[in-house]
Amino acid sequence: MTHETFASELDLATALGRRIIDIVRRHPAVVLALPTGRTPIALYDELVRLTRPGQVDWSSVKTFNLDEFVGLGAGDAGSYRSFMQTRLFNHINLRAEHINFLDGRASDIEQECARYEGAIAAAGGIDIMILGIGANGHVGFNEPGETLVAHTHKAELDLETRASNAWCFGGDIDKVPREALTIGMGTILKARALVLMGTGESKAEAVHAVLTGGVTTRVPASFLTLHPQVAMMFDQPLADAIATL
Ligand code: PGA
Repeated sequence: MTHETFASELDLATALGRRIIDIVRRHPAVVLALPTGRTPIALYDELVRLTRPGQVDWSSVKTFNLDEFVGLGAGDAGSYRSFMQTRLFNHINLRAEHINFLDGRASDIEQECARYEGAIAAAGGIDIMILGIGANGHVGFNEPGETLVAHTHKAELDLETRASNAWCFGGDIDKVPREALTIGMGTILKARALVLMGTGESKAEAVHAVLTGGVTTRVPASFLTLHPQVAMMFDQPLADAIATL
């Protein structure tokens, strides 16, 4: 496990953006797993900026997003799919058939989750998975609890998680769905390489627990420390806040 600290959120996004572009150039058929939330916004801006001169070809890249709200899908404001369209997909030449997303509107949730696991396997597995971390230590929507689920599944969202997603719904927590579909902890640990992004002091307790607290289902991101190829990237405000704990 390596961890690096960058002076600012923007510096982190620039460094990771450059690394991803470099990988896409060297391995045009790379399979990426992508997060949503506030943390990766600067990263997606950077990928769009670096792609703009027309020198990066995304046409063979495949993507899988980590999660989606139950009841929402493409075209629904607040869905993670629409977030990704706006922030990234509309601006690069990814092929529509290479974009993989959980369908929060699927009528048969179990079948939808099995379909997603099958699609990941059919793509040859995830090469690089980028993850954010929740203030409660979640990754994807694998929330803290007594147990974790290995495969893609439906998860009930913590109140804290719903509060931190209210910005996607005009600031109204009552509009944030109570459930989501998410890849599981086993799906995460099967990726060939993991990158955990952490920015801002609100993540300090969770990241501190990941770095020092041992592996526990109470801090799902702590499971990442079991992975042989994980890079953690933090900004200075987060590192400074961790140092005060
Ligand atoms: P955030 O969410 O980037 O909006 O802080 C991260 C997460 O909950 O995984």
